[in-house]
Amino acid sequence: MLLLRSSLLLLCLFQLHAPSSALPFEQRGFWDFSLDSMENIGKMAMMNDEEEGSAMEPTPSPGMPMCPFGCHCQRKVVQCSDLGLTEVPRNIPPDTRFLDLQNNQISELRENDFKGLTDLYALSVRNNIISKVHPRAFVPLKRMQKLYFSKNLLSTIPKNLPASLIELRIHENRIRKVGAGSFSGLTNMNCIEMGANPIQNSGFEPGAFKGLRLNFLRLSEAKLTGVPKDLPDSLHELHLDHNQIQAVELEDLSRYKNLYRLGLGFNNIRNIENGSLSYLPMLRELHLENNRLTRIPQGLPSMKYLQVVYLHSNSINHVDVDDFCPRGFGMKRTFYNGISLFDNPVNYWDVQPATFRCVNDRYAIQFGNYKK
Ligand SMILES: *[C@@H]1O[C@H](CO)[C@@H](O)[C@H](O)[C@H]1NC(C)=O
Repeated sequence: MLLLRSSLLLLCLFQLHAPSSALPFEQRGFWDFSLDSMENIGKMAMMNDEEEGSAMEPTPSPGMPMCPFGCHCQRKVVQCSDLGLTEVPRNIPPDTRFLDLQNNQISELRENDFKGLTDLYALSVRNNIISKVHPRAFVPLKRMQKLYFSKNLLSTIPKNLPASLIELRIHENRIRKVGAGSFSGLTNMNCIEMGANPIQNSGFEPGAFKGLRLNFLRLSEAKLTGVPKDLPDSLHELHLDHNQIQAVELEDLSRYKNLYRLGLGFNNIRNIENGSLSYLPMLRELHLENNRLTRIPQGLPSMKYLQVVYLHSNSINHVDVDDFCPRGFGMKRTFYNGISLFDNPVNYWDVQPATFRCVNDRYAIQFGNYKK
């Protein structure tokens, strides 16, 4: 930090003392300046204690903190974003915890790029042009928990991700295939965000997620035509919105018994097969907005914990009095606090008020009038 500050100060001084009459300004040597104020002499003397060699090309030397040129290093955070870097810089301090390389022009992660960074906790290479990752590039990162890889050009998940990884964001790449064993060695993760990749259902090889316990998965904005069947069964949250899913078939959800939230909005779903939702006893929140449903999915009344159902912008033309709520009392553990039905070809005055007998209050229902 001290080094960085004095370097900046030096740059400022150069500008201050650049003779405006003799352009272009040419620097011959650091000490070629005539210093005219005592204040500056004082500063120079202070810096002279730290500096050896050229001020424009700092080289690490004893007593000088290490920091890649142009980056900002402070409290184990190394900020190298927006520098036009074409490769991972060298001289990253070995105790770095967070390395920020986003918004550069890096095209490849090489074998030794992260050598020695055993304390690294989070790495961001977001928004670069990386298409190639050496299979051993992440091997030194034995404590890395967060990897931000969105907006790059990867076509597969990088190999040998550290076993310590908890969060992977790899949104907006070019991934078409998730091969068997892509996450081998990983046992427990919180979040994988891999939306906006051109991945189809056939892109998941059997065993792609084998052995992985995962809490949250987002596969939105991909090219899925159905619910993938081989995702981790530990999932609490699954986001599949903005795909091309046409239907939910009986067995599609049978694996995902732990889901709390399921996002299926903005697909082409016409039908949810009777009985499909009975596999989701824990579900709290179901998003089915902007699809082509013509009726309320069967099975909602027996979902004890369901609180939020988005059904707006579909083609639902009838709502039955028993579509949402069970007949008996005490069967539903939590009442609904959000049901959206607007933008469907059904008029609210055609729906019996008792339909919503297990809703917290009437403001929880978004209906609006149908005006098409
Ligand atoms: C699905 O369930 C609904 C409501 O219980 C019922 O009206 C419909 O006939 C069922 N459809 C099939 C194909 O079983």
